[in-house]
Amino acid sequence: GTLQSTSIIIFGATGDLAKRKLFPAFFNLFIEGRMPEKFNIVALGRADKENNDFKSYVKENLLLFSRNQTEIETEWDKFQSHIIYFRHQIDEESSYKDLDVKLKSLDSEYGVRANRLFYLSIGPNFVSTISEHLKKAQLASNPSQDRIIIEKPFGHDKKSAIELNNLLSKTFEEEQIYRIDHYLGKETVQNILAFRFGNSIFEPLWNCKYVESVQITVAEEVGVESRGAFYEGTGALKDMIQNHLLQILCMVAMEQPSSLDSGEIRDRKVDVLKSIRRIPLDQVNHYAVRGQYGKGTLNGTDLKAYRDEEGVAPDSNTETFAAIKFYLDNERWDGVPFYVRTGKRMQEKHSYITIQFKPLAQSTFSGGKHDLSQNKLIINIQPLMDIRLQFMTKKPGLTVELRPVEMIFDYFSCKEDTPEAYETLLLDALEGDLTLFMRSDQVEEAWDVVKTIQESWENNPDPSFPNYAAGSSGPQECNLLLQREDHSWEHAH
Ligand code: BG6
Repeated sequence: GTLQSTSIIIFGATGDLAKRKLFPAFFNLFIEGRMPEKFNIVALGRADKENNDFKSYVKENLLLFSRNQTEIETEWDKFQSHIIYFRHQIDEESSYKDLDVKLKSLDSEYGVRANRLFYLSIGPNFVSTISEHLKKAQLASNPSQDRIIIEKPFGHDKKSAIELNNLLSKTFEEEQIYRIDHYLGKETVQNILAFRFGNSIFEPLWNCKYVESVQITVAEEVGVESRGAFYEGTGALKDMIQNHLLQILCMVAMEQPSSLDSGEIRDRKVDVLKSIRRIPLDQVNHYAVRGQYGKGTLNGTDLKAYRDEEGVAPDSNTETFAAIKFYLDNERWDGVPFYVRTGKRMQEKHSYITIQFKPLAQSTFSGGKHDLSQNKLIINIQPLMDIRLQFMTKKPGLTVELRPVEMIFDYFSCKEDTPEAYETLLLDALEGDLTLFMRSDQVEEAWDVVKTIQESWENNPDPSFPNYAAGSSGPQECNLLLQREDHSWEHAH
């Protein structure tokens, strides 16, 4: 590629995200020839470690987590020469001075002042400390070359997100800040835009005249795993809805951008967030349902209740499931409910979007024996990756009878070639493309959307917790949310 020389500096390089996602992503970009010709990954960690020991650790984890495996033997020697372990204390000024010396010496090896990409793969509490130190040591002082990537959660409510944005703006220009929402890097999520605006046949139907409801489900089979202590202060609303589900909703609902310009696309997404009707505090129970898993079984395995997980309080009020009904106050979506739900310890891992079209007002086939299902479009995000259109046809035979059939476009056949979300996003950050990252106003608006729900849930413990069994499809109340409108959740496949 023609990418400029870059020093990639990872804060928290010995952590979980780095080993599972970041190093595999850089490695896969490397073997595909997508990394800059000259680059180094400066891996920062607290411990005093030998560079070679750290490299062996990275290799072991590539063997566990890289999508391409055969290349590890052949390409490892070349790749490892770009990794530098560097001891660093996040809150010590001298550590940043040492880093300055290191980065300058790399610059003289490259022969230019390289671009710098700082990756904050650390807890949210350290973001401000690091930002302040980077400013003081002038490590990111070149706005056209220096970038910072920040993981979610970005703040924990609207107020803290605004504070964090203000603080970051003292060190960085908005154009230097890459706030990650990794769902936006998923191939099937990016495809929503191509599907909607690259075809002439769907967009004319994509509005309240033809669409009855939209459903977005992100179901996880896993529980909180080893993250109980972190999750206790988070919950499904902050962990998934405020970011991933609202971002998917934006992709489904946004107006057509006039170009692929990142500012334009992000503007259209912010429009959606602004148009989401705010739920009044005293009506939260009418629009939102929360759940927490109790013990259960799945495929013959006994599963623990959330309250029995490590790091979780025995009387925890944290929700592991959330479902919300949103309305958008704009012309296109007038009166169309957008149902979103997400949960841990569901029956199976499955994320999908359903566009439910309105029934025919009148039909030759109305009444009688005909099963007039409504037209539906299902976009499977993961692990199934496909798009399904459901429509009616005549059942083959001597009588006239209708039945629903499906037309499927399957991404799955090219699954091995599908880059992981982090590959896409890291490459975009290296190239300076902000489109798939969250701008400050997007994050703040998204917090505003969930604000009253957050307040209501935090201040009113749910006495029914735990209210769904691990390995089930969530609390019963979740169905009521739709039944009131005469709708029901799509159990798609
Ligand atoms: C993360 C959440 O952002 O997304 C996790 O913090 C969740 O709780 C994860 O498990 C799900 O991501 P994916 O890509 O596995 O669907």
